[in-house]
Amino acid sequence: MSSYAAHIATVQARFDAALAATNFDSVLVYAGQPRVAFLDDNPAPFKVNPLFKYWLPVTASPKSAIFYERGQKPVLFLFQARDFWHAPVTIEPAEWQEHVELVVIDDLSKLTAQLGSKLQDAAFIGEDFAEPVASWNLKARNPQDLIDHLHFHRALKTEWELENLRVANERAAYAHLAARDAFLAGKSELEIHHAYLAAIHFRESELPYNSIVGLNEHGAILHYDVYETQAPAESRSFLIDAGATYRGYCADITRTYARNEGFFADLVTAVDDAQQTLLKEIKPGVDYYQLHVSQHLKIAQILSDFGFVEGSAESIYEQGFSSAFFPHGLGHFIGLQVHDVGGFLRNDRGDTYDRDPRHPFLRLLRPVEEGQVFTIEPGLYVVDQLLEAHADAKELNWERIAELRPYGGVRIEDSIVVGADGNNENLTRDAFAKLQA
Ligand code: GLY
Ligand code: MN
Ligand code: MN
Repeated sequence: MSSYAAHIATVQARFDAALAATNFDSVLVYAGQPRVAFLDDNPAPFKVNPLFKYWLPVTASPKSAIFYERGQKPVLFLFQARDFWHAPVTIEPAEWQEHVELVVIDDLSKLTAQLGSKLQDAAFIGEDFAEPVASWNLKARNPQDLIDHLHFHRALKTEWELENLRVANERAAYAHLAARDAFLAGKSELEIHHAYLAAIHFRESELPYNSIVGLNEHGAILHYDVYETQAPAESRSFLIDAGATYRGYCADITRTYARNEGFFADLVTAVDDAQQTLLKEIKPGVDYYQLHVSQHLKIAQILSDFGFVEGSAESIYEQGFSSAFFPHGLGHFIGLQVHDVGGFLRNDRGDTYDRDPRHPFLRLLRPVEEGQVFTIEPGLYVVDQLLEAHADAKELNWERIAELRPYGGVRIEDSIVVGADGNNENLTRDAFAKLQA
C-alpha cells in the first residue's frame, strides 16, 4: 500500500470513529472560499479548510467539498468555475483521484441537487459566511464535539504526512540559506525576504505565515514582519523565522546569525546548544510542559553565564526573570497548520488541560507521544516592555543587557518527529544537512 493510500485509510478511520462518537452518519467538509475586502471586490488569498486538505492534497480549489458517509468512498465535489476572467485551476492526474468519487461542478446547486435529502442529515465543517452555503439545511454546523475528536487524533501524523513535512522543511531550509547569504551581503530586510521567496519560487501567499525577517534590534520583536526597505548602516545580527509549504503541510524554521565573532555569536551558539540538549530529553511519556520548564532552566543558565542576570538557574527561573527574556512557549504541534490544533486537548471528548498562568503562551500541554510532530523553539531577547517589571531587581545587570539590545535576540527553531524511546527525527536539521551533503 502506498503511503498516501495508508494515509487516506487512516483519515477515513478517524472520521468513522469521530462521526460514530458524535452521532453523525455523514459529513460535508467544505474547502471554503476567499473573503473579499470591506466595500471592495478584491479577494484575500484563499486558505483552504485544514480538515479538507487532511483528506486530499487539493489546496487551491475554493468552493469544493468532500462528502463522506461512514464506511463509504468519499465523494469530492471539485469546483471548476466556468469563468473567462480567471485561469482555470489545473488538477494534475494524481494518486488521490483513485480514492475518491470525483464529481466536477461549476455551481454549488449541482452539489445540493446530487446530495438531495442527504444534506440535511450531514454535519458540516467549514466556513459558511457566504451564500448559498449560509442557507443550506444541515444537521449541524461545525459541531464542536466532532471537531474536537478529529483534532485530538490529528496530532499523530501518518507516514505520508511526514513525507510532506520533510519536503516542506527542505524547501524552507534552502530558502533560509539564500536569506542568510543576503544578510551577509548586507541587504535590507525586504531584499532578504525577496531572496527567500525567489530561492524557492514562492509568492508570499504560499508561505505558511508571514516571515519574520529582523536585522539588529528587530530580532527582539517576536512577530516582526515590517521589512525595512533600506539596509541599516551596520547589519550586526539577523533573526529569520520563515517556513514553506508542500502539499498543504507546513515548515516553521528559525535561525539566528551573527555577522562577526564575539559575544553575540557566542550567545547564538549557547542557545543553539541549549536547544539541542533539550532535544535529547524528548521521549514518549514526558510532558511537553516539563520540556518547556527544562528549557527555561537552560536559558536561565545562559542568562547567568553571560552575566545578564545574577543567580542560579533555579532562582532566575523561580523569580520569573527567564520569562522576561524567553516569554513565548517552547513550541507547538505542526502539520496542516503551522500552529497545528489540539495542543490543549486531554482526550477526544474535548476535555482540556488547564493552562498555567505562569506560561500563558505555551500552546502544547499534552504528553509527548510517538508520532507527534512539534517545534522546539527557545529564545532569548531584550524585550524592554517585559524588563520594566524588573526595573528594581538587583539581580539584573543593565549594562550587560544594554550590550545585547542592539542585537535584538536569538531564537532557534526545529521541527521534531517523536520516535520510540527518544529515537526522534529532526526534520529541520536533517533538511539543512541534506543541503550541505
Ligand atoms: N513562526 C511562528 C512560530 O514560530 O510559532
Ligand atoms: Mn513555531
Ligand atoms: Mn517560527
